[in-house]
Amino acid sequence: MPRTLITSAIPYINGIKHLGNLIGSQLPADLYARYARARGHEVMFICATDEHGTPAELAAAKAGKPVAEYCAEMWQVQKDLADGFRLSFDHFGRSSSPQNHRLTQHFAGRLDDAGLIEERSSRQVYSNADGRFLPDRYVEGTCPNCGYDRARGDQCENCTKQLDPTDLIEPRSAISGSTDLEVRETKHLFLLQSKLRDRLDAWIDGQVGWPVLTTSIAKKWLHDGDGLQDRGITRDLDWGVPVAKGDAPWPGMEGKVFYVWFDAPIEYIAATNEWADAEGRGDADWRRWWRTDEGAQDVRYVQFMGKDNVPFHTLSFPATLLGSGESWKTVDYLKSFNYLNYDGGQFSTSQGRGVFMDQALAILPPDYWRWWLLSHVPENNDTEFTWEAFQTDVNKDLADVLGNFVSRITKFCRSKFGEAIPEGGTPGEAEQALGTRLAEGLARYESHMDGIEIRKAATELRALWVAGNEYLQEAAPWATFKTDPEQAAMQVRTALNLIPLYANLSAPFIPDAAGAMLDAMGAEPGWPEDVATAMGVLPPGHGFTVPDVLFAKITDEQREDWAARFAGTRA
Ligand code: MF3
Ligand code: ZN
Repeated sequence: MPRTLITSAIPYINGIKHLGNLIGSQLPADLYARYARARGHEVMFICATDEHGTPAELAAAKAGKPVAEYCAEMWQVQKDLADGFRLSFDHFGRSSSPQNHRLTQHFAGRLDDAGLIEERSSRQVYSNADGRFLPDRYVEGTCPNCGYDRARGDQCENCTKQLDPTDLIEPRSAISGSTDLEVRETKHLFLLQSKLRDRLDAWIDGQVGWPVLTTSIAKKWLHDGDGLQDRGITRDLDWGVPVAKGDAPWPGMEGKVFYVWFDAPIEYIAATNEWADAEGRGDADWRRWWRTDEGAQDVRYVQFMGKDNVPFHTLSFPATLLGSGESWKTVDYLKSFNYLNYDGGQFSTSQGRGVFMDQALAILPPDYWRWWLLSHVPENNDTEFTWEAFQTDVNKDLADVLGNFVSRITKFCRSKFGEAIPEGGTPGEAEQALGTRLAEGLARYESHMDGIEIRKAATELRALWVAGNEYLQEAAPWATFKTDPEQAAMQVRTALNLIPLYANLSAPFIPDAAGAMLDAMGAEPGWPEDVATAMGVLPPGHGFTVPDVLFAKITDEQREDWAARFAGTRA
């Protein structure tokens, strides 16, 4: 059985994510996890909340809550929304877990033993107005690389460059807006990434078939001279993983914590450990996913993330894993995404612009969103969500093509033959042609899903639905019935058999509708062996029911209402 480890970039704890976040990592990861499971892989699908660092502290302060309490509450909120979108994580962890504390301290100890950590006195931004150091996102300013004027101290979200707060031009405090800042000395641990450049370079060169977006970003930061600078991996903050060397204290580092970007990717491993603990399993059960000397040598590891996360996953996290000198599993395939824009601008958490996960589920069931977002996933370019496009595509693909097919044929059968697969007639040329068309389309669909070419896969899936509609339109059993009921029975039987086939093929995209289709047909979940077999899976006499409307059309009134409601910023 092939084994596939899948991780989605772990969302920051600081509030509810918008649809741009969702389609930039978690949703495509879920699509692939569902597909891999359906194809018989043993899958471990991991996500978590990213709870440390300045985003968490700033959000907790804004909410007027202690940060630990804020994180616990927001984890539950994010978990419920993930369930609402049917994200099928095997475990949704927390980067603040004891497992992550232990592993993060373990890695730091190993890196130190390998001579890859050095204590340096470092220059940090200090705010006189706020009376404190301002690490990372506590500082905002202009990006020295591209000139973007709202770059944050940790990274420019416009050009993806990793930054230090002291790099910013015209810096200001994110807490108070004050520009009364100065640079003060403090001691921190630095990871000597520069010593790992050749190993990382060779490692990236060894990755065959990675998407261009991924390798180009990795190579750019590896070779631009300062992309692989030694990085400070500790911070003067209270909330986080306390600096320690394995189980031992780290003299001189009392009161400091590890940098959020050091512990966050380690949470992929820690969350798998959390999963094992929650299931009452032993360590071997999670280590067989992560240690190539303990069973993970035959695991394929696929990561999903937005493009701004690529440098951390192609440079920083591999530096931690390779530098440890232990046999940790590194990523085999890294799928990264561009941005989804919202109606002529950007989705923005800080500005509350766009549709957020809770709002989306309050107006429509998850399959509508899953289908639209996945079929428009920003794979090769940034793409845009507009209400017009959403209404048009959902109505056409889901209501007119798939939903209508299912409802039309089940209702017709019920009225002429009753609620069981009708008997009689012999398939002819038209059915032969349909079978061939479906088999060819299925082969293309599988190859795009295998290659994680999501838009192409969605196009093929839609074409499979269209093929059934066209067959039905041409066979016209309602006309045939008048002259040749046996022939009509065969046509109806053919069409009814497509419902479980469509359900199983569509389940990774639209799991709820797929489940309803299987239930109505009294059919089993499972990937089809081949189209010919699938087309005969429901034998004559097999009972079924007419399902409720699978997809209601979005009306113009609804569209206008939503467009107006979500035009401004979130209250
Ligand atoms: N929280 C980060 C973001 O939303 C992603 C962290 S991914 C991990 O951009 F690798 F660090 F886990
Ligand atoms: Zn920039």
